[in-house]
Amino acid sequence: MTPAIPVRRRPLVSGNWKMNFDHHQAIHAARDLGLRLRGSDTAAVDISLHPPFTDLRSVQTVLEADDVPVALGAQNCAVEDAGAFTGEVSAPMLAKLHVEYVIVGHSERRRLFGETDEVVAAKLRAVVRNGMTPICCVGETLEEREAGATTARLTAQVEAALGAFEGTGLPALVVAYEPLWAIGTGRAASAQDAEEAAQVVRSVVARARGDDAAGQLRVQYGGSVTPENAAELLAPPDVDGLLVGGASLDPAQFVAIVRAAHPPR
Ligand code: 13P
Repeated sequence: MTPAIPVRRRPLVSGNWKMNFDHHQAIHAARDLGLRLRGSDTAAVDISLHPPFTDLRSVQTVLEADDVPVALGAQNCAVEDAGAFTGEVSAPMLAKLHVEYVIVGHSERRRLFGETDEVVAAKLRAVVRNGMTPICCVGETLEEREAGATTARLTAQVEAALGAFEGTGLPALVVAYEPLWAIGTGRAASAQDAEEAAQVVRSVVARARGDDAAGQLRVQYGGSVTPENAAELLAPPDVDGLLVGGASLDPAQFVAIVRAAHPPR
């Protein structure tokens, strides 16, 4: 039997600005990014930018006016499509702004805003119902890792996410492995940790939805990604991209990370 040719999925590098940049700063950063990116970057790598809600319209306008092939992303969305939910922003509103990717279940939302696996599942459905692609975040705490519970934690989170689409085909979905101990700490996971976690994610999808679905799934790594560690973190076969926080606020650093996803051969 001929050994299977390893599949490399198209990398997706996403910049999560979190709660940074007002709309003036966002316009500046998006324009700067557009000027730095080369055709060879966007030909080889999918890129998404996830500004705060108040910046989305401004960033959309810059990307579209300057023809920058970077997808617009959001950091969260409401469960419901419309109604009496003061302070919420719905998935249809995001879709109307040409948002393509929505981060769902980021650990900061799970931890600081009480989002449960059920809420995450409802948000995944809202994103998909409105024609966008969710980036579903999963990851273990330091205590869970030290207790040897990483696989169990990731399995439970991925199973809950897949449960959102019970009885239907699995939609396009990205899973971001973001160990909590690596987020904003300057202590990135090792490439081996990232690969092992990505394999766990893929194997849960394979068990529930089959090998084809697992083979198509893109798994990102996130947590203290920098231009210095990006290439190493992207090297393992099951890591298909990066979800970048702090370093995405600097367009030069973000572009350097994008370039790590397509090193010149
Ligand atoms: P940092 O890259 O700042 O560690 O943040 C990671 C993250 O949470 C991206 O969603």
